[in-house]
Amino acid sequence: MTTSIDTANTTAKAKLNKFEQFKADKDGLLVKHELEQFAQLGWEAVDDTDLTHRLKWLGIFFRPVTPGKFMLRLRLPNGLLSGYKARTLAEIIQRYGEDGSADITTRQNLQLRGILLEDIPDIFRRMEAAGLTSIQSGMDNVRNITGSPVSGLDADELIDTQGLVMKVQDMITANGEGNPAFSNLPRKFNIAIEGGRDNSIHAEINDIAFVPAYREGALGFNVVVGGFFSARRCEAAIALNAWVPPDDSVVELCRAILEVYRDHGPRVNRQKARLMWLIDEWGMERFRAAVETAFGQPLPTAAPTDEMDWDKRDHIGVYPQKQVGLNYVGLHIPVGRLQASDLFDLARLAEVYGSGELRLTVEQNVIIPNVPDSRLAVLLEEPLLEKFSIAPSALTRSLISCTGSQFCNFALVETKQRALALALALDAELSLSQAVRIHWTGCPNSCGQPQVADIGLMGTKVRKDGKTVEGVDIFMGGKVGKEAHLGEKVQQGIPCDELHGVLRSLLIENFGAQPKSTAETHDGVVETGVMVTAD
Ligand code: HEM
Ligand code: SF4
Repeated sequence: MTTSIDTANTTAKAKLNKFEQFKADKDGLLVKHELEQFAQLGWEAVDDTDLTHRLKWLGIFFRPVTPGKFMLRLRLPNGLLSGYKARTLAEIIQRYGEDGSADITTRQNLQLRGILLEDIPDIFRRMEAAGLTSIQSGMDNVRNITGSPVSGLDADELIDTQGLVMKVQDMITANGEGNPAFSNLPRKFNIAIEGGRDNSIHAEINDIAFVPAYREGALGFNVVVGGFFSARRCEAAIALNAWVPPDDSVVELCRAILEVYRDHGPRVNRQKARLMWLIDEWGMERFRAAVETAFGQPLPTAAPTDEMDWDKRDHIGVYPQKQVGLNYVGLHIPVGRLQASDLFDLARLAEVYGSGELRLTVEQNVIIPNVPDSRLAVLLEEPLLEKFSIAPSALTRSLISCTGSQFCNFALVETKQRALALALALDAELSLSQAVRIHWTGCPNSCGQPQVADIGLMGTKVRKDGKTVEGVDIFMGGKVGKEAHLGEKVQQGIPCDELHGVLRSLLIENFGAQPKSTAETHDGVVETGVMVTAD
């Protein structure tokens, strides 16, 4: 759709960049009506811009590394899944054998692998029947909206965000149909709504984040805006100086900010098109005033403090819920990778032991909620928990990885397998009395968020012995939870085959790791972290 872009952008219209040009020529959502035809034609015959760009408006990603085997990115608001949905997705990827898999992402989402374009019409029918959608999940759209994975379960939460997150998604996607009002933003856009105390959703790295705050005794949300990462610039979100109650005002404020960004956000240079660039250009006062006008009524100023005052939790292990006699069980999924059989098993466990619900976390793990005390011991004996542990070793436990070169054409290095192998090897050698969060990202695009990690590893190419080899730049100092802040690059150009030794030294010197042979005791070592409440 053509939006009412402001004067600066209109002046620039004559020199629209490639992306703005193809969006102006034909809105991405329009390929929805051509899917049957594409399926019959085969991917080789589909127009190149439709194939490599517009299909992303439906969540369908052509992957140059595996031509013909597409990635399908879903939307799972607040990370909510169910046994029924998991089984539907398992059936979808099962038909692709070894090519079919599902990755849990750092936005509590799933990306399915191995998808054939000719199957898409059937897949979309099955997904619709199961209440699943992938609409507007790629390109210049709002990404999966995140919320606390223990929303509605956590005794200490302040606001249950599940309904609000769903309402915001429905507003943006027109109830999953696809919404041309928000399908041509200047760039991608991230929204998070936190209802707990531990900043479980990394508020600071979102374009809009709602964080719980009391204003004059009333519980609602302070709002921060403009957080983003890119290869050239990373910024933590800053205060909008606004507070809203936990009701439809949240939906309306998202709508207002999106309208301002859509109509005035910079579109000339895609490297400078995220929301923060508009805030920079206008200043916060003008930006806030424009948002207030679009909101349609005065915005209360922010509460003086927010309630995010806990260290971040990873939810792995067994924890009592606010509902007496029920527990949630967090399973560790190594680097977020699931096969069809895993999804079938998770669906079964959720239905047999819980209430049929599953939750995904931004740490790429799975939670089974609503397990009665009486069922807990049997659940913990299930063979799947040997693979997806409730007590993984320390470094493996906190490991995050983006896709890397196995499927992503931007990647400069292989990430997931290497990340897992290194974490397991270092776990075998070292004892740690604190969690160390290691994040891998295959290139400077930073999808794996190395800047929020204790140790962030960003793929790069390095010259070694006259050859170009895979390597990493190392980031340190990222802090999550209360008083979150971004880490910075501390070393660069480490060849991957030297990384084991470099990480070992970093862990010993900076995080108190002890070589296992010399460790005096395992008391207090972060290797179990399990709180079992059943007898
Ligand atoms: C120009 C910059 C970027 C490009 C070109 C880019 C590209 C991609 C691609 C191609 C994928 C899918 C790869 C695959 O799994 O096959 C991906 C996934 C992802 N990216 Fe990025 N990315 C960029 C920046 C970022 C940034 C800054 C973040 C946030 C820190 C981010 C977060 C994610 C996440 C969370 C996923 C998983 C899918 C999801 O749940 O949305 N990306 N990105
Ligand atoms: S960080 Fe780079 S390699 Fe990893 S998913 Fe993003 S674009 Fe691909």
